[in-house]
Amino acid sequence: LDNGLAPTPPMGYNTWNQFYCNNGGGLTATALKKVADDIVNRGLKDVGYEYVVLDDCFQDGRDENGVMKVKADRFPDGIKPVADYIHSKGLKFGIYSVPGDKTCANLFNNPKYSPNIGSYGHERIDAETFASWGVDYLKYDWCYPDGSLGLQKVPAFSKMRDELARVDRDIVYAISEYGDSQPWTWGKDVANLWRTTGDIAANWNSVTSIINRQVDLYPHSGPGHWNDPDMLQFGNGSLTYTQNKSHLAMWSMLAAPLFLGTDISRLSNDLVGLLTNPEMVAIDQDALGKQARRISESNGLQVWTRPLANGDTAVALFNSTGADATISTSLSALGVDGVHVARDVWAKKNVFNTANSISATVPAYDTIVYRLAAGSDSSLPGIVGASGTGR
Ligand code: DGJ
Repeated sequence: LDNGLAPTPPMGYNTWNQFYCNNGGGLTATALKKVADDIVNRGLKDVGYEYVVLDDCFQDGRDENGVMKVKADRFPDGIKPVADYIHSKGLKFGIYSVPGDKTCANLFNNPKYSPNIGSYGHERIDAETFASWGVDYLKYDWCYPDGSLGLQKVPAFSKMRDELARVDRDIVYAISEYGDSQPWTWGKDVANLWRTTGDIAANWNSVTSIINRQVDLYPHSGPGHWNDPDMLQFGNGSLTYTQNKSHLAMWSMLAAPLFLGTDISRLSNDLVGLLTNPEMVAIDQDALGKQARRISESNGLQVWTRPLANGDTAVALFNSTGADATISTSLSALGVDGVHVARDVWAKKNVFNTANSISATVPAYDTIVYRLAAGSDSSLPGIVGASGTGR
């Protein structure tokens, strides 16, 4: 969306995968302030994690003027003081609504939904309310399976886009209809990002199946308009350290929005180390904004590549299988000419020169990411001296 926002994929935190609809309690103003503290304390703010997004289940109908109300037990002073606190930490605040009259949680979890809880028919007042609360990001979630209001996706999502454009506040606009109607074909004019699939789950099958569904989407993503393969599941479910490493490597290759959804204070230092690797964040946030394309796939062994703003090329050797494997490619397959130095992005060091071939043993479930820069380094293997004898 050409609103000057999200020149790189947004990064931050979203409550959904930690709290869902308040499972076990905890979706409160206090919890959101703690998220902001944790983002700062764990060093995540320093590398760009910025938005704290309150997802579904804070709403409580509307007052007599049609203004959205929030659950008093969870947000006793309303939303604005929470947003103010988050802003005071140098972070930004996001919120959630839907184009229909019920949210997903109302539809699927709560038979007694509050009428008019969604933004349907209240788009203007909601955009104004969000602006007055200090909202910087809106996640607008379809959740409208029954057709009772006669809504169509593009006009319904565009309506809120237009209301956000009216208010005197920059609000990144994220839409979700789970990729059902190929939003990448129309999303660029409507939103800053759009979900490409159903909800991610915290297991390897879910992560790999989402990756495999991004293959054809690279032409549609770019500054201000991103494909969103859904949030990071770091810290959740059955994902191992190595699987999380691949999850983040591939999301970075895909120029994906990076949203955590876990108790950040309880993330292991190892996982925080992955999340704060500045060279991996730099690939995700590269100014050119070109999402990776897949150039080979063989029984779960994959090679993905994306060009970077300074002329470098990123290449990922992704092993989705449970066995160590050799994955190979070449500069010619990547469309790259001349001798290059390969830098291991996870290790943050240059590792070899190459005149063409690239090959490595990739451990089970792991992803090696190389950043290729033109030139050579005589201290490294691959090219002999300055004569440029390639391997
Ligand atoms: C469906 C979305 O895909 C989730 O990310 C979350 O926002 C829920 N709806 C909330 O009900």
